[in-house]
Amino acid sequence: MTDLVELAKRRGFFFQSSEAYGGVSGFYTYGPQGASLKEHVEETWRERFAVAEGHMQIDAPTVMPEPVFEASGHLDGFDDMLVECASCNESHRADHLIEGATDIEEAESLPTDEVAALLDAHDIDCPTCGAPLAGQPVDEFNLMFETNIGPGTSQTGYLRPETAQGIFVEFPRLKEYARGQLPFGVTQVGKSYRNEISPRNALVRTREFTQAELELFVDPDDEGPDVSAVADVEVTLYPAENQPDGDYVETTVGDAVTEGIVDPWVAYYLGVATEWYETIGVDFERFRYRQHQPGERAHYASDCWDAEADVSAAGEEPDWIEIAGYAYRGDYDLTKHDEHADDTFTVFKQYDEPKTVERASVDPDMSYLGPEFGGAAADVADALATLAERDRAAFEDEEVTVTVDGEEYTVPTEKTGFEFAEETEAGRHVTPHVVEPSIGIDRTVYTVLAHAYDEDEVDEGERTVLRLDTSVAPTGVAVFPLMDKDGMGERARDIAADLRAAGYDVTYDDSGNIGRRYRRQDEIGTPFCVTVDYESVEDDPETVTLRERDSTEQVRVASDDLESILADLRAGETTFDDL
Ligand code: ATP
Ligand code: GLY
Repeated sequence: MTDLVELAKRRGFFFQSSEAYGGVSGFYTYGPQGASLKEHVEETWRERFAVAEGHMQIDAPTVMPEPVFEASGHLDGFDDMLVECASCNESHRADHLIEGATDIEEAESLPTDEVAALLDAHDIDCPTCGAPLAGQPVDEFNLMFETNIGPGTSQTGYLRPETAQGIFVEFPRLKEYARGQLPFGVTQVGKSYRNEISPRNALVRTREFTQAELELFVDPDDEGPDVSAVADVEVTLYPAENQPDGDYVETTVGDAVTEGIVDPWVAYYLGVATEWYETIGVDFERFRYRQHQPGERAHYASDCWDAEADVSAAGEEPDWIEIAGYAYRGDYDLTKHDEHADDTFTVFKQYDEPKTVERASVDPDMSYLGPEFGGAAADVADALATLAERDRAAFEDEEVTVTVDGEEYTVPTEKTGFEFAEETEAGRHVTPHVVEPSIGIDRTVYTVLAHAYDEDEVDEGERTVLRLDTSVAPTGVAVFPLMDKDGMGERARDIAADLRAAGYDVTYDDSGNIGRRYRRQDEIGTPFCVTVDYESVEDDPETVTLRERDSTEQVRVASDDLESILADLRAGETTFDDL
């Protein structure tokens, strides 16, 4: 971790923001290499999760008004466990301290008093100053950043803690764009904010981060998608019930569905995600999908599988981090917004054939109910209506009895206006369920870097190399003149310009000796370097050397063929050995 973070800072991948003012924990700036790497990761995500799946993309604001988060449950339920040191006043995630000091893997699923008792029982000290934390209270701390919208007595707003809410609140409009047809998916890539208690591990736990989320709205009666397109994708699963024994299940998406290990919708996206992780260079020897324990799930989720990556350095203890969550959110979100907002968060589901249904209704005689029941009359009328829908047999006798606030009211059936009639229904209103792949882009970028990081010995000595996949490497190709003289610099600049025009991210570099220039490119993961030397400018037709980062092998190729060779290498249609 230390080596990677040092390299990231030195070579311009990422570094703590506002360092000129002392820096502030949990905020990172991506430098030139990192911004490009991150953009490539986002692009490949969009291609796989939005374009290839035919889903919509939106871009919603990051500030949303308070009622949104009252409805979503974030105001009440989006908390982490905080313990404050009485000696230095530093705040810590109490559950993380327990996980560090015991064998307990998911302490966030425990109640706060139990976590406080564990702090006592294990004599856990403050990681900052070493004072004992025993006896300190453990509190729930809401992670949302609050703000005022507008001047004066303004409206309270919050920075969104997940991009998902920007999709849910627009559901009434989005369903129109989808012409009311389920399933349909909406994606969004954007910033989310969480006032983390103890930000740490560079990009892994920050207070401002990028999420790439897909909200798939499905018919609750739909048993699942056709998973055949990803059925053969191999996955390493870590189901909740296997976690006490540490047993993984190595299987395929198809078998995981057949054997009932994963919900078909979630499994489909584990397949899609696995294909995507492969294209961006995640190492599957250090990767798993771990199912949440019931107490660990977010307030909205009925099941969730996290993508987890081991980002430890070679030879160290595994360091598993969550990089994404694949959740079944059920109808939680749309039901809540339907209750709180003025709009309708359901879709009208048309039957194949209209159906004839018998519908029971009441039309109580209020001139009887009023004098008879006084202030309870309206509630009695409502209770009669509910009973008619639920149990029409209750209206077969001469009297019918309902309970309001624990008290029984008996009404002559003739005063209820009870009747049932046959109606033709074209369909019904349903609240869609939500399946959600929620990807943290920053943790994915971090994983890609950690899995690409390597140190090896080459002819010129020891080197650090990022073995980044060509699909995400910030620089596609570097072009050097051996020296900037005798026409070599001019030719190298021309070649760089041609490759840029062909769509490559190109770096031109003529400073320092050639070995140092190769080392610099190895450290930022540039897959190929092109060098114009004396032979190049003498050859007719002109040639250049092409060097491969991973093997450090070089071949001489015609400059005119460079573009097509690089395209074939990138597409995997040629290997460097073939050349
Ligand atoms: P954790 O338990 O590590 O706090 P979480 O379960 O709260 O994570 P989710 O709410 O499932 O995370 O968010 C979805 C994804 O967003 C995560 O898998 C992660 O990649 C990313 N994410 C969440 N919080 C942060 C953060 N503070 N910094 C960077 N990425 C984050
Ligand atoms: N949208 C899932 C999460 O951020 O928690």
